[in-house]
Amino acid sequence: MNIIRKVSDLKIEIAAAKERGSVGFVPTMGALHNGHLSLVERARKENDCVVVSLFVNPTQFNDKSDLSSYPRTEDKDIAMLQSAECDILFMPSVEEVYPQADNRKFNFGTLESVMEGAQRPGHFNGVAQVVSKLFDFATPTRAYFGEKDFQQLAIIRKMSSDLKLDIEIIGCEIFRDDRGLALSSRNMLLSDEQLEVAPIIYRTMIEASKVAAWSPDLEHTKEWVKEQIECIQGFKIDYFEVVDANTLQPIALLEDATERRACIAVKVGNIRLIDNITF
Ligand code: PAJ
Repeated sequence: MNIIRKVSDLKIEIAAAKERGSVGFVPTMGALHNGHLSLVERARKENDCVVVSLFVNPTQFNDKSDLSSYPRTEDKDIAMLQSAECDILFMPSVEEVYPQADNRKFNFGTLESVMEGAQRPGHFNGVAQVVSKLFDFATPTRAYFGEKDFQQLAIIRKMSSDLKLDIEIIGCEIFRDDRGLALSSRNMLLSDEQLEVAPIIYRTMIEASKVAAWSPDLEHTKEWVKEQIECIQGFKIDYFEVVDANTLQPIALLEDATERRACIAVKVGNIRLIDNITF
C-alpha cells in the first residue's frame, strides 16, 4: 500500500492508475472499523485501484470539543487497510487540504434543513467542502459512502449532480455488530455499560415499525420511541423522524411516502450516535 500525504503525489499515482483501469474511492476520517472495511471491500471488488482517504476534516465539526475528542488510531488504520488490500492511502495534513480558509457556501435546500443539518449547523457545508476537494484530488471512477450517514449520502449525491461530476456515487448498507448496533468510530468513546445498552437504539427502531403499522399517525410512534430510549439512564433523543427516503422530508402519516426511512440521533452521555432503517 502506497501512503501519500501530498496532493501533487496523489495526482501522479491516480493518473497512472487510470491508465490501467477504474479507481474506487472511500473517504474516511479514520478510527476505522469493519463498517469502513465493508466499503473498502466493495470498492476492491468493483475497481482496479482502491484509494482510501483518512482525514479528520475540521470544517465539518460545529462542536470543537467533538473535533478534539474524535478518536485517532492511525497505526491500526494503516494495518487494517493493508490487510484489506487498499492500494493507496491518502493521509494529508490540514494545511495540505486547506492551504487557505475555504469560504465556499453550498446550498442543499430542504435536504439540509432537517435532522443532522438542523442539529449541526454548518456540518454538511463542511462535508461538501472536503468531499468536493477530495473528489477533485482523486478524480475517482466510483466513490463509496455508507447508508449509516443517510443524509450525508443524499447531500453527496446532490452535490455531485449539481457540480455535474463524472463520479458514480455508491451507497453501501449499514454494517452492524451481532447485536444490531451500527458500527461507528464514536462507539469506542462509550463506556462498557453504555456499549452494552446501545443496541437498544436499533431494536427500538425495528419495534417502532410494528407500532407504526398499528397506528399510522407517526406522532404516536415518535412518542413511543422517546419513552423507550429515554427511560435508560443517560440516553436522550436528539431526533427521531420518519422521512421520505428520497426528499428526506418528515412525514406525518405512514402513507405519505412509499419509500420511507426512520432516522434517529441519540445522545449517550455526551456521545452522539446516529442510525437509520428502511421503515
Ligand atoms: P466517517 O465517519 O469516517 O465515515 C466514512 C464512511 O464510512 C462514510 O461513508 C460512512 O457512512 C461509512 N460508515 C461508517 N460507519 C458505517 C457502518 N457501520 N456501515 C456502513 N458504512 C459506514 O463520514 C465521514 O467519515 C466523513 O463525513 C467524510 C465523508 C469522510 C467527509 O469528511
